[in-house]
Amino acid sequence: MDKFLIEGGKCLQGEVRISGAKNAALPIIAAALLVKGPLTISNLPALHDVNTMLALIGRMGVSVERKADMQVCIDSSSIDSYSAPYELVKTMRASILVLGPLLAHFGEAEVSLPGGCAIGSRPVDLHIRGLEAMGAKIVVEEGYIRATSDGRLKGATIFFDTVTVTGTENILMAATLAQGQTIIENAAKEPEVTDLAQCLISMGADISGAGTDTIIVNGVAELHSAEHSVVPDRIETGTFLVAAAMSGGKVTTTATRPDIQEAVLQKLIEAGATIESGDDWISLDMQGKRPKAVNITTAPYPAFPTDMQAQFAAMNCVAEGTSHIKETIFENRFMHMQEMIRMGAKILIDGNTASIEGCTQLRGAPVMATDLRASASLVMLALVVQGETLIDRIYHIDRGYENIEEKFQGLGGKITRISPSKAT
Ligand code: UD1
Repeated sequence: MDKFLIEGGKCLQGEVRISGAKNAALPIIAAALLVKGPLTISNLPALHDVNTMLALIGRMGVSVERKADMQVCIDSSSIDSYSAPYELVKTMRASILVLGPLLAHFGEAEVSLPGGCAIGSRPVDLHIRGLEAMGAKIVVEEGYIRATSDGRLKGATIFFDTVTVTGTENILMAATLAQGQTIIENAAKEPEVTDLAQCLISMGADISGAGTDTIIVNGVAELHSAEHSVVPDRIETGTFLVAAAMSGGKVTTTATRPDIQEAVLQKLIEAGATIESGDDWISLDMQGKRPKAVNITTAPYPAFPTDMQAQFAAMNCVAEGTSHIKETIFENRFMHMQEMIRMGAKILIDGNTASIEGCTQLRGAPVMATDLRASASLVMLALVVQGETLIDRIYHIDRGYENIEEKFQGLGGKITRISPSKAT
């Protein structure tokens, strides 16, 4: 298993290019199942999760042609299986995103139940109930969701009692080919949902309201070929900006979008950073200062994202003052904090709230990455504290960050990947 060896105490400076968003790329790949004919996707990030999604649809007989860098052309005309097997779904929960498109286009789907994961139980009951409301027959047996539809799905009004990102995306995709109108109430407003909707609209779907909490879809008989460029990754952008802030440095993120980043930028300003931005770039200058601790409560977009909670926890560990972090989306998303404590962080956890007393005496230590964003937060902390840190199980980070070590090296970070296969 690969590890990262990091020598800390560095001030990050320079420019970093942001990749396409993982959480937009995955549903957009699944959307290719809605059309017989090519969907060309560009600005695709080179990530394990993207490869897993492409392998999953490739396994169904779908043609996947990698074109230029960051571009893929997908054609589902040759599909010969409607099944997402356990061995792929267990490595990536977002595989559930093939359920809606398969069912809407081909009238059947078999998707393994994703099961639990490091950050909580994460059920998919809302996806299932939404599709049932559209007329699908669904049984859950032998660890699989088996769904069929007698003819086209039917439009319905679906109210989500919890805001769910992939749940909204599954229903949105299914509704594009349903008969009649679907209204999704209390829909997720995340920019990745809007990006998916824009891709579907360019494929001929009739969708309004994406980006608000009510999405209206008038089903069409078929969709057509299209091209789409994936929205920049706001979580990757935030990760580099927070890393710069905690190091006292100055970093510019390019190929990104400041308009979908407001909650995070506001917190960075509160921490003492000077932020400037243009249409597709954001720069942060900390002028060598130590950041001030900031309080955070995670909530659905446009509020503060749970996927940035661990990174701000890392910043608060070295910041001036005491902060409180409340996690309201996932019940077990503080596992990075136990590792931060190994590096000397002063953290008290009480239920879904963590109190962090910022201090300057943290030191590198051997630690273990537990999930994707937790891994990023440990890398960030290791880069700024004194001493050496060895981070184990970094396969989590490769799922969602493209070339993270090269990008940090470009900013002056001392980070090396240690691969056992290369060492022998
Ligand atoms: C997506 C993101 C993930 C992000 C999360 C919250 C992708 C691929 N992943 O995950 O990075 O952290 O949104 O912004 O886009 N829930 C139910 N029943 C359901 C579905 C969800 O109870 O059927 C609950 C979950 O347990 C959780 C909450 O709803 O407490 C939100 O989860 P959800 O938005 O569905 O997360 P994902 O879409 O899996």
